[in-house]
Amino acid sequence: RMLLAVIGDPIAHSKSPVMHNAALEALGIEGEYFPLHVSPEDLGSAISKFKELGFRGINVTIPHKVDVMKYLDQIDDSAVRIGAVNTIVNENGILTGYNTDGIGYVRSLKDETHVDLRGKSIMVLGAGGAARGIISALAQEDPKTLVIANRTEDKAIQMAEEWKSVVNISAITIDKVSDILADMDVVINTTSIGMHPNTSHTAIDPELIPPGIIVSDLIYNPLTTEFLKKSHERGCTIHGGLGMFVNQGAYALEYWTGKPAPIEMMRTAVLKSLQ
Ligand code: ATR
Repeated sequence: RMLLAVIGDPIAHSKSPVMHNAALEALGIEGEYFPLHVSPEDLGSAISKFKELGFRGINVTIPHKVDVMKYLDQIDDSAVRIGAVNTIVNENGILTGYNTDGIGYVRSLKDETHVDLRGKSIMVLGAGGAARGIISALAQEDPKTLVIANRTEDKAIQMAEEWKSVVNISAITIDKVSDILADMDVVINTTSIGMHPNTSHTAIDPELIPPGIIVSDLIYNPLTTEFLKKSHERGCTIHGGLGMFVNQGAYALEYWTGKPAPIEMMRTAVLKSLQ
């Protein structure tokens, strides 16, 4: 039996169990994916227990994505660079940490909008943990330029500094985006602005978005944020956050099982549980 789990604090709201249990069933793999509440002081002992019990995989969510790294035997290069782990693979007692958030996001963006990111100008709103994984994955797509726009400009500058050897990247304060937005092909909101219950808020004024570009939002509650609704009204192609969630899970499942993930079944399972 393949034993899998997600650990977090809190964990009750997590849609990962419903999504992965549906996937295991669809793949005909005998096993189970459990939600487990682990508080920060129990993180180390929880990880050793998983090893002892022979769990094949663990997803790691808030607040453990950074702290869990010190309990692992190996960490994938790109997870080191991002500075966070959301997926652990147990290979005969050796635990390896990966980060599938950013690559899951980019896979979803490409699959759902059919965009070719090569040569594109991309603006990322926000410079927090979510933005880090996404910038790391976008940098692999050979864009023309990445612009990080953040309320706290210093955080954006620091992040641009970290990736400048890999990709053409710059930073600005989020109040100054209007001038350069006209040159963007893709705009991605990674901030929490617009998330339930403050659903009328938007990270930037949607009136500034050039008509016809691609606009994406990591938020999936609501499934279509105000930012996306307004962008759609302006003739933009919109992309919501559910796909990122599904695809970070798809990559994790593929690491654990070695089989292609049943992405549409996983998406359907999550959508059903959101109703
Ligand atoms: P996450 O891991 O979800 O990215 P985070 O690391 O706390 O969370 O980062 C949150 C991001 O949303 C940051 O870019 C934050 O801007 P600051 O760096 O200036 O704090 C941004 N953010 C959150 N609430 C915001 C608000 N009300 N206005 C502007 N930016 C906001």
